[in-house]
Amino acid sequence: MRRETTERNGDMTILVTGGAGFIGANFVLDWLAAGDEPVVNLDKLTYAGNLQTLAGLARDARHHFVQGDICDRARVDDLLEVHRPRAIVHFAAESHVDRSIHGPGEFVRTNVEGTFTLLESARAYWRALGDEARTGFRFLHVSTDEVYGSLAAADAPFAESHPYQPNSPYSASKAASDHLVRAWHHTYGLPVVTTNCSNNYGPYQFPEKLIPLMIVNALAGRDLPVYGDGRNVRDWLYVGDHCAAIRRVLAAGTPGETYNIGGWNEIANIDIVHIVCRLLDELQPAAEGPHERLIRFVADRPGHDRRYAIDARRIERELGWRPAETFESGIRKTVRWYLDNPGWVADVQSGAYREWIGTNYGSRNGAAA
Ligand code: NAD
Ligand code: DAU
Repeated sequence: MRRETTERNGDMTILVTGGAGFIGANFVLDWLAAGDEPVVNLDKLTYAGNLQTLAGLARDARHHFVQGDICDRARVDDLLEVHRPRAIVHFAAESHVDRSIHGPGEFVRTNVEGTFTLLESARAYWRALGDEARTGFRFLHVSTDEVYGSLAAADAPFAESHPYQPNSPYSASKAASDHLVRAWHHTYGLPVVTTNCSNNYGPYQFPEKLIPLMIVNALAGRDLPVYGDGRNVRDWLYVGDHCAAIRRVLAAGTPGETYNIGGWNEIANIDIVHIVCRLLDELQPAAEGPHERLIRFVADRPGHDRRYAIDARRIERELGWRPAETFESGIRKTVRWYLDNPGWVADVQSGAYREWIGTNYGSRNGAAA
């Protein structure tokens, strides 16, 4: 195998996993826009990974893309040995709750076994580093607020001390990965930091998730499927703000600690759908009438968490991070982006995408509210 190195004259490098997915790719693009430190990007290119998102970096020597699986220990060992990163930022995961209900096995494999493999590889690499590099090394684990379970309407938002109560195969697998990361710090001293973030939205999000699904369906004149009564609440954060928070935690977070990241932006699903419809009515009106005519209440998601809300005071107090976007500014940018990038949208709606839509929505027909 030909070995290349991105370590030139002591330059620093980071290894990103899952950097062809929604948040990972936004992170890589923002990282290279903000500075010159190279990125090695390890991604398996599952249905959710898309190199088209990174097309602007095709000739950029600072970006080194490697197609591979985080469960492949030899591959990860080799990448660490060759590129000698000062940090690993771990995004790679199976990320969609509905898919975890239909097929949990891949979630356990990638999210649990994959994180374990990465931790073991990182531990061996880190142990062999010189003193200075060992002290500076970071393993940043990107996780979710879903590990905390579901809140009642009057409950306080999730703080970092909230007990873990995951309810879906997805959140259970992410919770398991968080526990592994924590244990590798406490037992072996690996300098880890974990972030638990709320719902992201923004450019390049795969249209299986609520906001991009509603945008692409509305533009195509298809039904807008709202689960249950539509009153489930999520705390929404623009993806660029999440990426900025991760950069801040990487730079200044304390090893062994966790940081909750959120937008102070609790919105019920049905209200999100109305906001998207009204923006589309303004930016691209449909001849048939307002996009809200397409809203359909459908059978609920099994085990559907009612409410998530993040208490993001710790990252603000200790690291000085706050979201820059309001929901109004972020959602307008997002809708505009999907309108301006029909080629990206068409490409991700392949045969496999249509198959998934059939699997998830085919059996949900009928009003549920
Ligand atoms: P995504 O599904 O869009 O992307 C996941 C990426 O990981 C894809 O590029 C995929 O090809 C890659 N991948 C999957 N399995 C892999 C494997 N075995 N080896 C290597 N690469 C693999 O996910 P996302 O929404 O960008 O989420 C990224 C991370 O952030 C996940 O860990 C997720 O749990 C977490 N997170 C997401 C949100 C959100 O709202 N989307 C919020 C909080 C936390
Ligand atoms: O909270 C962080 C999590 O947010 C991340 O960890 C996950 O990776 C990410 O997928 C997201 O999980 P959710 O399940 O909250 O996101 P999703 O976009 O799938 O759904 C948002 C809400 O909208 C949820 O209450 C279910 C509802 N929904 C979703 C879809 C796809 C609908 O009503 N209709 C739909 O068709």
